[in-house]
Amino acid sequence: MRLKNKLAVITAAASGMGAAGCEVFAREGATVFAIDINKKNLDEVVARVGRAGGKAYGMVADLLDPDNCRKAIAEAAAQMGGIDILWNHAGIPGLRDVEDLDLDGYAKTMDLNIRTGLVMSGAAIAHMRKRGGGAIVFTASTAGLVGASVSPVYSAAKFGVVGMGKSLALRYAEEKIRVNVVCPGPIETPMFPDFFDPNASKEVALAAQAKVVAAIPLARMGQAIEVANAALWLASDEASFVTGAALPVDGGFTAR
Ligand SMILES: NC(=O)c1ccc[n+]([C@@H]2O[C@H](COP(=O)([O-])OP(=O)(O)OC[C@H]3O[C@@H](n4cnc5c(N)ncnc54)[C@H](O)[C@@H]3O)[C@@H](O)[C@H]2O)c1
Repeated sequence: MRLKNKLAVITAAASGMGAAGCEVFAREGATVFAIDINKKNLDEVVARVGRAGGKAYGMVADLLDPDNCRKAIAEAAAQMGGIDILWNHAGIPGLRDVEDLDLDGYAKTMDLNIRTGLVMSGAAIAHMRKRGGGAIVFTASTAGLVGASVSPVYSAAKFGVVGMGKSLALRYAEEKIRVNVVCPGPIETPMFPDFFDPNASKEVALAAQAKVVAAIPLARMGQAIEVANAALWLASDEASFVTGAALPVDGGFTAR
């Protein structure tokens, strides 16, 4: 088991890659503290982990609020008896428009993608220090490695996540807290269509999505579990000499 006896927190845990992460982290021996704003889906994920013989706690929280982030980390440490791993997966595509910029939308995109992970990490570090080290994984995107015309604001935020991950890796290396970033390409989850124009006709939307897939060397979209497996590896001791990395999980999209 690759995460035997590890205590792991996962955000945006009720769907997509976060939910796959809960299942695979628990299967590999971790106790999982799963956080999401969607109670119904979160309950289902926690129950699924339990049915598979794993151990998971669930907490409903809107992680846009920094107080909720700090409370969630305190609760995770109290329930599990500490924290070894934090996968900061929460994020949103946010705004498409840049010419008539909605500043509230801008703030929300930046805050959930950047501030939430920073506040969660800041609160978790003291708990990792007590256990002699730890592993933090952020979810950025290929849009954090190369430009993305569909959402420049999202791309700005995800480049920020990559920079933040690398900088935290340098700052906490001496304390044996590794920090890495996973950068998914297009992944088949409920979020994927949100990257495209909601006012476009179905045909135009499907054509836009097909164009994205056509740019992927492996000629398909990714699956949630493929990103969860990358996060699992980065969080595990198998990646003990890996810190400050931004790992594309993108079918070769950023290799061009
Ligand atoms: N799907 C993709 O193609 C793709 C590609 C690259 C990066 N990403 C990144 O992956 C992450 C999530 O993507 P996914 O595809 O797994 O999404 P998803 O839509 O399957 O799940 C997102 C989860 O986040 C939760 N959530 C939303 N706002 C929240 C909040 N304020 N507080 C707590 N929970 C909240 C939702 O309830 C949902 O369960 C994001 O950081 C996203 O930017 C996605």
